[in-house]
Amino acid sequence: MTLALFDRLEQLRLIPIVTIDDARHAEPLADALVRGGLPCAEVTFRTDAAARAIRAMTQRGNLLVGAGTVLLVDQVKVALDAGAQFVVTPGLHPKVVNYCLERSIPIAPGVATATDIAWALDRGLRVVKFFPAEALGGSRGLKALCAAYPMMRFIPTGGIHLSCVREYLRMPEVLACGGSWLASADLYASGDYDAVARVVREAVSLVRHDGAS
Ligand code: 3PG
Repeated sequence: MTLALFDRLEQLRLIPIVTIDDARHAEPLADALVRGGLPCAEVTFRTDAAARAIRAMTQRGNLLVGAGTVLLVDQVKVALDAGAQFVVTPGLHPKVVNYCLERSIPIAPGVATATDIAWALDRGLRVVKFFPAEALGGSRGLKALCAAYPMMRFIPTGGIHLSCVREYLRMPEVLACGGSWLASADLYASGDYDAVARVVREAVSLVRHDGAS
């Protein structure tokens, strides 16, 4: 289950991170992501609408939906109840990680240092989020860090945009890149979901042309 999930994320290569204030945006946003060629969303638990947005998106049945910025076990429970298929945390958050591992819930916790990776390795994790990627030295910083951990795969996230995403995706250690730039509220706040589909399509095409997919 866990491996299959990460295999699917690896095929997609890009994970749109969405923070939704109003759950009514969830369905048209999901449509825009699918139309753009990225049937996936990581919905952050930074707003009260997160669970409702996850439910609305998963009910469509045509995209992979995860819960992001998960800090508490209670949020994992709410996210799973809403249909979330994977969990992402910004840091290691031991209670959340242990809860997910005990139940075979796919989880990618955030790491920023070798010590964090050591902790994740100890728990048998092989996929982690590298966060906040650009502030930690970008792809150069990740290369230096991951050289010692050939068994790990990374999902760099944080400050990544179209201009630098390929540098990460060219690294074999990188499973996929996450980013809010793919579906930011600035793009769809006025109801222009086509703008999201356009940005997503451009990113997908760039990544594929580059052979980084
Ligand atoms: C996250 O929740 O992973 C980050 O906020 C995403 O970072 P970004 O907004 O810089 O893409």
